Amino acid sequence: MHNLVQITPEDFSGKIFHMIAHEHMLITSGDETGFNTMTASLGMFGMESWKYAATCYVRRATHTFSFLEKNDLFTLSFFGGKYQHEVDRILGVKSGRDGDKIKESGLTPVFLSRTVAFAEATVVMVCRKMYVRDMDTQCYVHADEIPSMYQKGILHRAYTGEIIAMYVKSGG
Ligand SMILES: Cc1cc2nc3c(=O)[nH]c(=O)nc-3n(C[C@H](O)[C@H](O)[C@H](O)COP(=O)(O)O)c2cc1C
Repeated sequence: MHNLVQITPEDFSGKIFHMIAHEHMLITSGDETGFNTMTASLGMFGMESWKYAATCYVRRATHTFSFLEKNDLFTLSFFGGKYQHEVDRILGVKSGRDGDKIKESGLTPVFLSRTVAFAEATVVMVCRKMYVRDMDTQCYVHADEIPSMYQKGILHRAYTGEIIAMYVKSGG
């Protein structure tokens, strides 16, 4: 059960920059047969190839990476500043590879639009992969300004997905 209602991306009036910077988001991929989620604070939202789209950036070392590789869909869930401990200190620190961190978080997975999000979310974007590429140090124009983690060779894979459905919490 959830009280998420569907909207169109252009009707969304949330403060997306505040949300990604301060609330962070959960990237979730998979379905009833198996899924995983992780916290992310890197994201882009807008238009790609004339479609409403979102991009997230995921390290290969994460368990979520393997779900993103195997599945066509992923979701981005925001929680309106609630559940910050669960998002930042459990789902963003522990790995689903090592145990059931979703159960530990207490968040409730919901299956919608053929994939997985969370009942407690205030905003959910359901994305269908459309453009996947590895970030490349050579493409940074100001290479001296890129984060040191990139210089050590730990580059993210960027997943741009068409936003095929979007939900907000009813009344919120
Ligand atoms: C606030 C915060 C933001 C994060 N942002 C990202 C991100 O954008 N990309 C990424 O690959 N990892 C990010 N992480 C790290 C992953 O969430 C973390 O490695 C997680 O344990 C991976 O879980 P998994 O192995 O179950 O997939 C972030 C962690 C926190 C706490």
